[in-house]
Amino acid sequence: MQPARPIHWKLVDLERDDPGYRMAIETAARALLHGQLVAFPTETVYGLGASIQREDAVKAIFRVKGRPADNPLIVHVADIAAARKLCSHWPPAAERAARAFWPGPLTMILPKTAGVSDVVTAGLATVAIRVPAQRVAYDLVSVAGPVAAPSANRSGRPSPTRAEHVLADLGDDIAGVLDDGPCQVGVESTVVDLTTPRPMILRPGGLAREALEEILGPVDILPGALDDRSDPHSSAAAAATRSPGTRYRHYAPSTPLLVVTGSDPQRLLMELSRQVETLQAAGKRVGLLVADDFAAVLRAEAVVRLGSLDQPETAAARLFDGLRQLDRQPIDVIVAHTFASQGIGAAVNDRLLRASYKIVRGDAGEQ
Ligand code: TXA
Ligand code: MG
Repeated sequence: MQPARPIHWKLVDLERDDPGYRMAIETAARALLHGQLVAFPTETVYGLGASIQREDAVKAIFRVKGRPADNPLIVHVADIAAARKLCSHWPPAAERAARAFWPGPLTMILPKTAGVSDVVTAGLATVAIRVPAQRVAYDLVSVAGPVAAPSANRSGRPSPTRAEHVLADLGDDIAGVLDDGPCQVGVESTVVDLTTPRPMILRPGGLAREALEEILGPVDILPGALDDRSDPHSSAAAAATRSPGTRYRHYAPSTPLLVVTGSDPQRLLMELSRQVETLQAAGKRVGLLVADDFAAVLRAEAVVRLGSLDQPETAAARLFDGLRQLDRQPIDVIVAHTFASQGIGAAVNDRLLRASYKIVRGDAGEQ
């Protein structure tokens, strides 16, 4: 049983060596080891944690999130040594990537040992592992040992990038949340499968494919991973067998989201204006989730700015909070657009397209 009201540990203003900070980490770690669920910040999004030693708690994750039992969890550990203990095989590519990008927003899929519960991996022979960089996440797993944690949202909702998002979705079902303010990266980790002959990205995320390729050489992308030209409503199906998480509609606000695709700013702006005007003419109230460049010239009932068009890092950091903000406004539809798909832009576009109900090509006629 979880207590009715979760503990809200506010750590933002505390130094790492502050007794209050240490006490919060130790109390949260103890709660995990007693089989309770604790939400915590990572550099990507907030996670909903359970100790992998507590199968009952891991099962509770699926229950409180409303997550299908066949969608496996990521295990968070403190270092390479802890990661290796979960793997039956540790290939040279894992060692190179871990040294280059851990702690950080990289999750590696590797063959698991018998010690890793099938509940964590949803019965797969592989396990997803990462070492988080955020200080609270890092300190928590250093004390508690391996922690299984999906994003701490209710299934299908935008991922949480602030403690308030976690409390809004899961406040009744967790022992507590460690609050260290907004997440820096804002989109989830890049998931890469290292059990294939050539590494394959199953989910674009906080670590750019380009950076990964500098260390690992050529890296494939799962066909179902989305870019600004693909149709998520058909290609997601192709991804299903490899990355169970891509099978479900994700990250979605309850307000319908329309996404205009393309990379040419002029064409994007033209198509955005056309869509907004058409919707407004039909009596719809429109909320915009757009780059500052466009927010300055478009008129709508609500606006969330995602930063400059050429700064996808800012868009990533604001994306999920922006979707939640617009969801609270009295609007009928959200209109957004893709960014250039280099670097973290690929992850921003993937999340937008997965959350959308409608995709409009803003670059028709372009090659
Ligand atoms: O940044 C992140 O990765 C965040 C923070 C909390 O670390 N976590 C996160 O977890 O996004 P979640 O559960 O929302 O997404 C995990 C993804 C899912 O798409 C899942 O299907 C995939 O990783 N996954 C986990 N284990 C896998 C495995 N053994 N093989 C293939 N995909 C796996
Ligand atoms: Mg998630």
